[in-house]
Amino acid sequence: MPISAHGKKPFVNDRHGREYLLRRVEVWADEAKEKNPNLEIIKLNLGNLSGPVFGAPKDFTSILAESIKKWDGSYFPSRGHGPLIQAIADKQERETGKRPEDDFVLTGDGGSWFIEKIIGQTMDSRSGILLPDPGYPLYMTEVVKNGGHAFMYGADKDGNPDIAHMRDLIREANAEGIRLKCLVVINPNNPTGAIYSKKSLLELLEVARENNLFVLADEVYYLTRFGGNQPIHISTLADDVPIIQMGSLSKEYQLCGSRVGWGICENFKKGTPVMDIYKRLENDQMGRLSPNGLQIGAAEIIKKENHLPHLREQTRLRQEATKKALSGIDGIILGPDPGAAFYRWVGLDLGDQKVTDIGFVKSLIYETGVVCAPGIGFTLHRKNPRAECFSPGKIYFRVTPLVSEETIMRAGGIIREHVENLRRGKVRIPK
Ligand SMILES: Cc1ncc(COP(=O)(O)O)c(C=O)c1O
Repeated sequence: MPISAHGKKPFVNDRHGREYLLRRVEVWADEAKEKNPNLEIIKLNLGNLSGPVFGAPKDFTSILAESIKKWDGSYFPSRGHGPLIQAIADKQERETGKRPEDDFVLTGDGGSWFIEKIIGQTMDSRSGILLPDPGYPLYMTEVVKNGGHAFMYGADKDGNPDIAHMRDLIREANAEGIRLKCLVVINPNNPTGAIYSKKSLLELLEVARENNLFVLADEVYYLTRFGGNQPIHISTLADDVPIIQMGSLSKEYQLCGSRVGWGICENFKKGTPVMDIYKRLENDQMGRLSPNGLQIGAAEIIKKENHLPHLREQTRLRQEATKKALSGIDGIILGPDPGAAFYRWVGLDLGDQKVTDIGFVKSLIYETGVVCAPGIGFTLHRKNPRAECFSPGKIYFRVTPLVSEETIMRAGGIIREHVENLRRGKVRIPK
């Protein structure tokens, strides 16, 4: 019997959700540095694009600087800056061949704004949502905060969604009288970097169709593909299933801190029940005091693609280095190679050693200064036996290799030594 995040024994400690470990590790790293000022901290934990290689391209920062000069300090229209809406619609037309109606292009403060609002509007104590496991943790946090039920579907050995698992979860929800409303698809995926196959996306749409679910398609990594991989916008595969396709400047345009994002409502037909969701989202927009002049520059930046070859090649090189650095470490299970985004999902089998994801990551930080994200922050895998076939490790962590290849190789050596020490019982696991 698959186990989901809802029910009598929630996977979280309290109703505010599981500790947000992705960034909590930064606090541990600061503590480690305070205790030992000589410790070199190597951050492999966050997809926060920054620095000379992954930070904003120079022409983008010039455009944004000009855009701030044109801004008089006022709020922007709640709907968003008009030319920005046009630029988003142009992008969608370029990539999908279909131009959305302007009214169905919504803007918000990053993709996160849409996650928060959509889950806030759809979840209550009788409602549920299907989420990928592993997946980006903000979804779980928001579901729990709003008193809803997260049903987390596993991934198969290639990183594609496990559709059979999804169907079992739907049966489980129905049996418990929980009304499933939404199916979340993160493609390309964080934390695995997997690009979902067309077959999987079609099957997933069929599940949504049969169960009257709308799809929240998180495609914030769409343009970050590398090594010749090509994700598919799910909205190109159906003209009936309602889809909210989410994007932002954060990853595709290397502007994480800009907080400019969008949600495109595809297949929202007038007079259908799903229009309620659109109306509530649109109303949330009206309540939003739309931020600053960066939106002027964003309208320009979204037209550009000349930064992408550099972004993709630099990502590819670091992913290759990561594979090399981690391969051959006793117990490491690498799973499928990522095709996009900035992450590598890693399993580790430590045999009889009783170490948790958090224990591993904490000990690695405090003893060596290497900072990874604990797998448990993204997943329910310990309660989900099917996720084991994806990466049958005993513990999991996510590596985000945005540092130099030389540093990645060095970090790999440090992780190797740490794993050896753990096996020999030579590491004290911090509380
Ligand atoms: C899968 C996924 N969705 C959404 C977000 C939120 O991004 P933003 O709010 O910066 O658009 C992130 C950030 O890392 C992410 O990984």
